[in-house]
Amino acid sequence: SPLLFHSPQVRPFRDPLPPLPVWSGSSFTLDAAVGTHRFHSELDPSPAFGYGGRGYLGPVLETHSGTETTVTFRNTLSRHVFAKDIDTTLHGVSAADATAPRGVLHLHGGVTPPAFDGHPEATIRPGEQVTYRFPGGQEATALWYHDHAMGITRLNVYAGLASLYLLRDRWDTGEPGNPLGLPAGEFEIPLVLQEKVFTADGAQSVRTTPLVPEGSWEGGGVGDTGLVNGVVWPEVAVARGLYRLRVLNASSFSVANLFFANRMRFWVIGTDGGLLDAPVATTAIRLAPAERADLLVDFGALAPGETVVLCNDEPVPGQAAILGEVTMPYFCRFRAGSAPGFQGAVPSTLRGGPGQPPRLPPLPVPDHVRDVTISQPFELRFPPSVMTLNNLMFDSGDLELPRQGTVEQWNLIDVTPDPHPIHLHLVNFRVLGRQSFDRTAYRLRYPQPPVGTKWAPSADAFVTGPMRPAEPWEAGWKDTVRTDGGTVTRILVRFPTAGELGFDPDAIFTAPSGAELRGYVWHCHLLDHEDHDMMLRFRTPA
Ligand code: C2O
Ligand code: CU
Repeated sequence: SPLLFHSPQVRPFRDPLPPLPVWSGSSFTLDAAVGTHRFHSELDPSPAFGYGGRGYLGPVLETHSGTETTVTFRNTLSRHVFAKDIDTTLHGVSAADATAPRGVLHLHGGVTPPAFDGHPEATIRPGEQVTYRFPGGQEATALWYHDHAMGITRLNVYAGLASLYLLRDRWDTGEPGNPLGLPAGEFEIPLVLQEKVFTADGAQSVRTTPLVPEGSWEGGGVGDTGLVNGVVWPEVAVARGLYRLRVLNASSFSVANLFFANRMRFWVIGTDGGLLDAPVATTAIRLAPAERADLLVDFGALAPGETVVLCNDEPVPGQAAILGEVTMPYFCRFRAGSAPGFQGAVPSTLRGGPGQPPRLPPLPVPDHVRDVTISQPFELRFPPSVMTLNNLMFDSGDLELPRQGTVEQWNLIDVTPDPHPIHLHLVNFRVLGRQSFDRTAYRLRYPQPPVGTKWAPSADAFVTGPMRPAEPWEAGWKDTVRTDGGTVTRILVRFPTAGELGFDPDAIFTAPSGAELRGYVWHCHLLDHEDHDMMLRFRTPA
């Protein structure tokens, strides 16, 4: 394995998939607390963080579109599980985070007023609480919630502060007999995929290499062990029929290319922001951290007792060119029972028919094109000490200022060799396509200035081939998109107006610390990257 630290060997498919508890309603209180969690029956319990009384991860929150939901987040953390790994040289981090970690809750994919969006600088300390109001004015989909504290997000989320947030609506009710004919109840399963490294005594660890000193940002939290719903390589008991799997890649760092060992076909029915127009049949789906996939999988062809493994063949990111090794070749195994399962079939359409939501709108025409860069400025240090957007650090005042009511095409120019999942808060967008470019020629033509000077020249003169359209399963609403190394990923984003939103997205708000903040963030969702410093703010003036 390319990892220099290895998790202890435990047997796969020993433990059953634990269902995540589902809390339905419109008002929740979530405590973040330190606890312990047993990741595998052959490992001792490990220190971990959890929400809502759980030792690791949080309950699935289930709410209804169009209904405001309030979440009171209470920080009841104490000594950090990863106290030794806190890097006080990162933006916003202090030694106090080791004993009294900051926390803030973000609803990922939520169309949320800025004051309730979990801004990374709107953190609270242990003993404090804050109530967020989520308007819920969006379609049914699988959002997720997680910690977003500046400079320690990678440690807080990896320690366990994350879970799913299922929005329902009058079509996608989540109830048996729903108008869309989708599997529901016991036939709908949330699957939170993560990667992990364990120490020899079975504790979760964020350290993947002894080359980086303790207490120093590592740059790449690659795991060698796959988790589903907080358990190492579980087995999922299924009936012989159709299932709806709500898959979230909540990994810190690794893209997953998911497929079943028997190469069976399955269907993608939804993306980050809701349903596709119609199911798309595929045999594999590539899901970057923070992306969600709404899948239909038919286990009806399995014989009773037959099993099928959910596999991954994506090589390690970051060093893919050098190592090219798959460190997490599987996540879980499904075992068919003898009971008959959900009796319905895969619907032929999901939108536009009777009892269905309206079809996806056509791709919008941009009013403005904006070039942004994703780069890893070269520095003589190990590990490379900073990751940047536009060659800027987080506190740069050089913000993107898209106007409300306009459509922008953002060309995400990935100057690195690696994929980066880019996430914009507040908005849902569409993927236009991807186009490779010659990053060596680009760099020669536009030498990168020192970090802190904006650097985002167009790559259009350096493209090396035609634009490839979005993958079929990216054809819907997205809030996170995978860029690839040496590729321009083009997305179309409409920035909504205050009138449409029912709140002012450009309002100044006061953080619990008393600081006056404004706007939202956009960032790479590799947790190591967003902490240092691949995250910027943006504002949407009227
Ligand atoms: Cu998943 Cu800025 O967040
Ligand atoms: Cu990144």
